[in-house]
Amino acid sequence: MLRTHTCGELRPTHAKKSVTLCGWVHRRRDHGGLIFIDLRDRYGFTQVVFPPEAKEVFKTAEKIRPEWVLRVTGTVQKRREGAERSENPTGEIEVIASALEILNEAKTPPFEIDQDTQVSEDLRLQYRYLDLRRERMQRNIALRSKVFQVIRRYFTEQGCLEIDTPCLIKGTPEGAREYVVPSRMYPGTFFVLPQSPQQLKQLSMVGGLDRYFQIARCFRDEDQRGDRQPEFLQLDFEMSFCEQQDVQKIIEGSLMAILKECGTKPLKGGKVERYTWKEVMDTYGSDKPDLRYDLPITDISNMVEGCGFKVFEEALKAGGTVRALRVPGGAALARSEIDRWTELAKEMKAKGLAYILFKEDGPQSPLVKFFKDGFIERLQNATGAKTGDALFFGADTYKIVCASLGKIRGEAAKRFNLIDTSVHSLFWVTDFPMFEEQDDGSLTFSHHPFTSPNREQWKYRKEKPLEVHAICYDLVLDGYELGSGSIRIHDPELQSEVFDMLGISRSDAGKRFGHMLRAFEYGAPPHGGFAYGIDRVVMILAGEPNIREVTPFPKDQKAKDLMLGAPAKMPDQQIKELGIKIIER
Ligand code: AMO
Ligand code: AMP
Repeated sequence: MLRTHTCGELRPTHAKKSVTLCGWVHRRRDHGGLIFIDLRDRYGFTQVVFPPEAKEVFKTAEKIRPEWVLRVTGTVQKRREGAERSENPTGEIEVIASALEILNEAKTPPFEIDQDTQVSEDLRLQYRYLDLRRERMQRNIALRSKVFQVIRRYFTEQGCLEIDTPCLIKGTPEGAREYVVPSRMYPGTFFVLPQSPQQLKQLSMVGGLDRYFQIARCFRDEDQRGDRQPEFLQLDFEMSFCEQQDVQKIIEGSLMAILKECGTKPLKGGKVERYTWKEVMDTYGSDKPDLRYDLPITDISNMVEGCGFKVFEEALKAGGTVRALRVPGGAALARSEIDRWTELAKEMKAKGLAYILFKEDGPQSPLVKFFKDGFIERLQNATGAKTGDALFFGADTYKIVCASLGKIRGEAAKRFNLIDTSVHSLFWVTDFPMFEEQDDGSLTFSHHPFTSPNREQWKYRKEKPLEVHAICYDLVLDGYELGSGSIRIHDPELQSEVFDMLGISRSDAGKRFGHMLRAFEYGAPPHGGFAYGIDRVVMILAGEPNIREVTPFPKDQKAKDLMLGAPAKMPDQQIKELGIKIIER
């Protein structure tokens, strides 16, 4: 080893010891003929002092610049009284240098490593290796590693085998676009990178492996958001001969272990809550509400007949719903803020965002003039709105009202600082609908097509497909969808019926999923599983605003790797070898 100790290790007990440290120059200060250097590595900082008496060493020390890489030998000494720095674990000692070797010089970095100054994210990502030297990133990457460790230990203790599944596979429907890899050996054919190891983990169960886990790399070509990356990690889990609650118990246990060992905050209410999909949609307008604050939505459909406001009455007549969100303190909102919220509601396909502000001198709203006598009082009774509050309304289909008021609920919590950030909120959402209706009226799966429907409800799938529930469950942490899972179909006939409902012809299903249907014919055990986003867990534990901050080498918001310059054009020769023709767009 080039060093005897790390830069975070030395304490007063090491006084008088001769030591050798290696690291980067974090800061250099010249003081009355002495040169001080804070030497930095992953473990911390140590103050190194260069006294002028050691002439050669001092001369070399005069040259050094931030981020040069040094090897310093010297003697540990307790700092003089008053010069200690209690905030630094090595702040009670310093090393008096007797030898200095410059291991490498460094250009002036494009941003300062030693300060948490605002640096544009593009620059940080372009020089990620420098950004990684900063304290924030070092902390986040260490936290991520600890989460991996807890996961590996926990699932191994649960009797799972860690099984690695391939990345060069065939399409897996999870609802996103896929990344494809052309085959050189078979021009015109392609591998697909997994959106998740879904099919392979199920086939492992058919293979009798009983309990599986993997920290799995998944690839999805979808619009980027703060909580999404084109490639990301899932904790992927599957077990045989189980019911929903068996999977939930194991997954819950893993998250409790992670929160305990890697987190700092308690769970709200001390436990993982459970809600049905209908409950959270009705009450919070979202299947992943942040429940660190309450703000419930009230169904006022049964009150609006004859209320005088056409928009409400007509929404109801058209088979829709009318709901209200009470925002405590909302009467203080400025017109411009309400306009912005209205735009947000419209992004969720709402036609508008009706509101009433309960001002000191009475209710204020463009709607008041339409309302029949007594309606406002009845609204107040139903929602608890009082002077100082605001009510916001959605009148449309169930889906649109939930989406728009759910969105406004989130905005209101931010605007009025209602989020209790001293706790985590973790809960299960169960009983999702099996199918969703698309804009063209056709059905799509709401989880994935391998999810088992509720067998009782399956009987009326043709008449009331949207009322069939799936045996499917999500976990929500602090308003983020952390993970999803389900009990799977293990019966080839049922699997074919699901494909039928999705409008996938038998021959098409055979081409795309023949391997699954065939496997199910050879004694597939009942099985189920779950997957959660590890990057999301780490982001939430670290209190970071997006998963790029906890991903060592992330893509940017436009799905590019700015450091490597990827994706990139390929040399013509390589394209030719792959049998591919590029069409300019
Ligand atoms: P699902 O598609 O819900 O389920 O994904 C599970 C979890 O993976 C995380 N995740 C992502 N994280 C970062 N970037 C992304 N682009 C991204 N997409 C998803 C989320 C999400 O909740 N095979 C099923 C699981 C199963 O049924 O066992 C699946 O992949 O945290
Ligand atoms: P209008 O009658 O279209 O001018 O709308 C009057 C008010 O009702 C405005 O504040 C609109 O934003 C709101 N509004 C219109 N349609 C809806 C709707 N479907 N749901 C909720 N609010 C609406």
